[in-house]
Amino acid sequence: MDEREIWEETHGKFGYSKKVFSLLDSSLVINKFTQELMPFQNKAEMKVLIPGCGSNVNLQLCCNKVLGNNTSIYALDWSKEAIDISKRKTDILGIEVKYINQSYYDLSLNPSFYDIIIMSNAIVSESHENNVTALKNLTNLLKPGGSLLGLFPSPFNMLDYALTNNDAKKWLIDGTVNVKERRIYEKKFGSQRFFSPLELYILFKKINYQVEKFELFFYDDDNFANQIASLYNLKYNSNFCFWGYFINSKKM
Ligand SMILES: C[S@@+](CC[C@H](N)C(=O)[O-])C[C@H]1O[C@@H](n2cnc3c(N)ncnc32)[C@H](O)[C@@H]1O
Repeated sequence: MDEREIWEETHGKFGYSKKVFSLLDSSLVINKFTQELMPFQNKAEMKVLIPGCGSNVNLQLCCNKVLGNNTSIYALDWSKEAIDISKRKTDILGIEVKYINQSYYDLSLNPSFYDIIIMSNAIVSESHENNVTALKNLTNLLKPGGSLLGLFPSPFNMLDYALTNNDAKKWLIDGTVNVKERRIYEKKFGSQRFFSPLELYILFKKINYQVEKFELFFYDDDNFANQIASLYNLKYNSNFCFWGYFINSKKM
């Protein structure tokens, strides 16, 4: 089975609307994207791409609210089911979105076409090479001067969580967190290889982006505390939270 089939099997059988881990039900996250999109308000006829859009349409909604109907929104995912669910939702909301059912490992789209790429937790392969390819391929789609805004997972957020919260200490010995490999294992979903901050920063420079912001973003709300508790079988505890990277960058 290739990566796409494995992904479809693990997530697809439950329906994308229920099982894909999404950051987009949190107002904390949506407020961050809203704030980062504000400088692009009132710019004429922009094209925005949301890669790895999944089945949660809150990012499409956020782009439409902030940027208005003059902006064309494109959303891409390799899962046909995720795309179908998203399309139904945005049709009901009356938001025009052009959906693209393709893998970002193998794109047949026009280069230098989009003004903004905006993404949330969208590059999540267990293969580092695939993650690098994804980012490189997405770069080709942006116009020079275009912006890539996004939340990226870190292999060190769960390390930090395990070091801080006694209930999660077991992750350090049961293999859930593998710092050396920068890999996170989940029983249900297999493993994911995330970028360390420096690794990601260097990659951005290599693929010709100027990194304007590279921030830690703390997922500090009840929604995430509940998701963490149920996903990792931990006691609910709102004192601790995960974090990821927020990156705002420009293609040179
Ligand atoms: C963790 S989910 C996040 C979904 C959405 N961004 C959100 O936050 O709700 C990752 C998404 O990326 C998609 N994805 C993974 N690999 C992909 C690939 N190679 N090409 C296109 N989409 C991919 C998955 O199908 C899934 O919908």
